[in-house]
Amino acid sequence: METQRLNGNYNSDIVIAGTILRQGGLVAIPTETVYGLAGDATNEAAVQKIFLSKGRPQDNPLIVHISSYEQLNQLTSELSIKAKQLADAFWPGPLTMILPKSKLISDRVSAGLSTVALRFPSHSVAIEIIKSAGVPLAAPSANISGSPSPTTAAHVLHDLDGKIDAVVDGGACTIGLESTVVNLTTEIPTLLRPGHVTLEQLKSVLGDVNVVDAVLHQSDSNAPVFSPGMKYKHYAPKAKMVLLEGSYKAFQTYVNAHAGEGVAALCYTGEEKGLHVPVITYGAQYCQEEQARVLFGALRKLDEMNCQVIYARCPNANGVGLAIYNRMIRAAGFEVRTLD
Ligand code: TXA
Ligand code: MG
Repeated sequence: METQRLNGNYNSDIVIAGTILRQGGLVAIPTETVYGLAGDATNEAAVQKIFLSKGRPQDNPLIVHISSYEQLNQLTSELSIKAKQLADAFWPGPLTMILPKSKLISDRVSAGLSTVALRFPSHSVAIEIIKSAGVPLAAPSANISGSPSPTTAAHVLHDLDGKIDAVVDGGACTIGLESTVVNLTTEIPTLLRPGHVTLEQLKSVLGDVNVVDAVLHQSDSNAPVFSPGMKYKHYAPKAKMVLLEGSYKAFQTYVNAHAGEGVAALCYTGEEKGLHVPVITYGAQYCQEEQARVLFGALRKLDEMNCQVIYARCPNANGVGLAIYNRMIRAAGFEVRTLD
């Protein structure tokens, strides 16, 4: 099929996107976090196509995107006070809540779970498209399963050109990492995936919040899986990546000692000069917002360089850094070496 290129600045293109979605087609849409591969969440055939075109395992449930609180009420069977408080604090925005699902959510969307993941995005083009479609939109990140999430329309086309009906170009995503996912069906709320809404911000609204082990560690294949997405290899460049923890001096010494054919480095902006290997940067050391915004694009650039080993500067895991660290240790297959 030919994938139509639409422009989020044109109202006529928003109408076309809405029509394709209402008719059961798939449209990649911009959001403030990453681009999503959207389909009508209430249409079984459309949802099935999402799994097929991404190569997504069927047991990994989808996030349903809404553009009104009326839809929130329709899609959940029970809305707790905590859910209302979180919605008040962070919606529209980069937060996904796991809530008890209503009958409108099929087992295909929720992968057989009794819960549903809901998100009210803040990106104006995303909101307009959901409204134009007139239905809630199931949308995982618009990448081939396992590769870094797309933060531009070009990334989407790299992975899915010819496999989906259209992509709506809304420019580069301003946040660059997927939403924070929090489960509100456990007695104490549980952080399943860190994102731009930080653990500290969640705690300021909810009080106690637990963090699933899989956020920072490789999940034990025998342990119960709270968020199915966590058990899959993610964000991975084709090359082997190793995170190096320590000072820049130690990083530089290590990388230069290991320089050679097929070796590359991923470091902070401004650190390129002292390294004797090809370098990609992922933002300034003290600007976590920038690191989040450019990380996935940097991983894609490393793929284009066709290197075999990537030595990466290990980010600080505080605040938004927890999300950056979470994506990077997955990209590195949990291989972290401490220098100094
Ligand atoms: O920012 C985002 O969240 C982006 C944009 C497009 O909104 N979407 C996104 O979707 O990252 P996806 O499918 O790549 O990640 C959804 C995550 C997966 O880890 C999945 O397992 C988890 O949410 N999830 C979905 N429904 C769930 C449920 N009912 N219970 C637990 N985890 C769930
Ligand atoms: Mg994804």
